[in-house]
Amino acid sequence: MKALIAVLPGDGIGPEVVAEASRCLEAIAAKFGHAFELRQAAVGAAAMDAHGDPLPPATLALARQSDAVLFGAIGDPRYSDPSLKVRPEQAILSLRRELGLFANLRPAVSHPATFHASPLRPELLAGVDLLVVRELTGGIYFGEKRLEGDRASDLCEYSVAEIERIVRLAAGVARGRRGRLTSVDKANVLETSRLWRRTTTRLLAEEFPDVNLEHAYIDATTMHVLRRPADFDVIVTENMFGDILTDEVAMLPGSLGLCPSASVGEGRRGLYEPIHGSAPDIAGRGIANPYGTILSAALLLRHSLELAAEASALERAVATAIEGGALTADLVRPGQPGVTTREAGDAVLRNLS
Ligand code: IPM
Ligand code: MG
Repeated sequence: MKALIAVLPGDGIGPEVVAEASRCLEAIAAKFGHAFELRQAAVGAAAMDAHGDPLPPATLALARQSDAVLFGAIGDPRYSDPSLKVRPEQAILSLRRELGLFANLRPAVSHPATFHASPLRPELLAGVDLLVVRELTGGIYFGEKRLEGDRASDLCEYSVAEIERIVRLAAGVARGRRGRLTSVDKANVLETSRLWRRTTTRLLAEEFPDVNLEHAYIDATTMHVLRRPADFDVIVTENMFGDILTDEVAMLPGSLGLCPSASVGEGRRGLYEPIHGSAPDIAGRGIANPYGTILSAALLLRHSLELAAEASALERAVATAIEGGALTADLVRPGQPGVTTREAGDAVLRNLS
């Protein structure tokens, strides 16, 4: 098949990890006989430096025109002051909103080869395979923001339609997995959460009677995902709770560097990015972990291009590379040397052929 893939490397380690994922996509195209055009554009602090805008119109236009977006990371210490009017992070928020990417899928799967890298005990990690589905274009992130004198407010708003579409997506995914859905809210305190809970209960009864639904509070869930992570299948939650919960859940596979994500909407177009940030402390040294970005490219193949066999081949190649000991610095045991970003990419490519 032919596909146009927008490649937005961004800042810090973004370009290094995206380079490896791009090599993998090219190798998949060659192996399976596809024609992927990978077209790069500037985003984040890199785009602020070059064009004075974290999301230049040409980058947004390319994203809209493409079948899928492969994204690296954004953020730069030079622009880290949260009170700045223009900040690199605005680019990712605008991209999500402009492309209508209301669902963020963040899987967390544990590998025995990296149990030692997780802060959790190995016996808790066996069999961990969960997926957080985070609502991505609503809630407190996008509600009205006010600052008046010494008071500030951020409005958290959800409509029934916004809740239905994200829960429908999550329940559909749960149906194709182990059939369990945990909806996470704070219904003992928040009106938006009460609406979320009512809507979820009704929708599951009407459309997904075969999916096993449980409701849980966000505070208790942050504890349960550490005490019994293997019990969870699909977790669905609103934007802010999902932001917090997914960083916590990323500790299960052992490193943020291993975690991919997919942001999707109504159509097939999606944005795929590792969940880690730009890691300026290690940028430019060639030691960043590219696996989260390569696994994001696999999600791109599966969701946006509907190439399931190619996606699985890439995921298997990553698993084999990790099991074969191609561990970057964030994954090795203390005192051991790690492989470089390029060597990790090479290990995946070797296992592809
Ligand atoms: C994430 C990030 C973003 C978010 C930031 C960079 C705006 O933390 O993708 O989880 O809060 O959504
Ligand atoms: Mg986050």
